[in-house]
Amino acid sequence: MVVGGTYHLVHSTLNLLLLIIPAMVANGTPVVVGKLVRRPHPIDNGKTFWDGRRILGDGKTWEGLIGGVLAGLIIGAILGVALSNLPFWLETGFWASLGAMIGDLAGSFAKRRMGLSRGDPAPLLDQLDFYVGALIFLYLAGAKVEIVPAIILAPLVYALHRLTNMLAYRFGIKREPH
Ligand code: CTP
Ligand code: MG
Repeated sequence: MVVGGTYHLVHSTLNLLLLIIPAMVANGTPVVVGKLVRRPHPIDNGKTFWDGRRILGDGKTWEGLIGGVLAGLIIGAILGVALSNLPFWLETGFWASLGAMIGDLAGSFAKRRMGLSRGDPAPLLDQLDFYVGALIFLYLAGAKVEIVPAIILAPLVYALHRLTNMLAYRFGIKREPH
């Protein structure tokens, strides 16, 4: 009984980890895209919200969003070939990546409403907004997303985000280390 339960938990956690890999790659891609594109187009078109602050800010661009989804699709394709189920991994790769991008936009929307400027740190929100977005989209798309595995993976996603962002900062790809 206990062994069976543990086995199920390990299995579903590893399964969820695979499902969110495209989302993690998607989330890291806009940083590079933002560096490559000279004048990217802000999604909010420079517009302000009722509070007079930017809706999303200059850190959220169409180029970043599209680049992120495409990168997630490529990772989905690789997983699909490796695991012999291309349609499934393409579809979940797409929804996970789009969810990650939308979650990140929601995070920036919340930051602007709190009066934080582009690039200001917002602990936990900065690291996990994309993860929550990916989980919601995967769930809505019909993938098996369970709450306990999602919570178990959260510290790993957080740590990976901190580590990769710190490295990107060190190598001059990112303007802030968070
Ligand atoms: N980026 C982008 N488009 C997106 C998301 C990110 O172009 N949809 C790029 C921007 O160059 C951004 C960088 O990736 O500055 C880092 O992303 P992030 O840390 O999420 O944005 P911040 O600049 O910190 O802005 P915010 O305060 O809104 O999170
Ligand atoms: Mg940031």
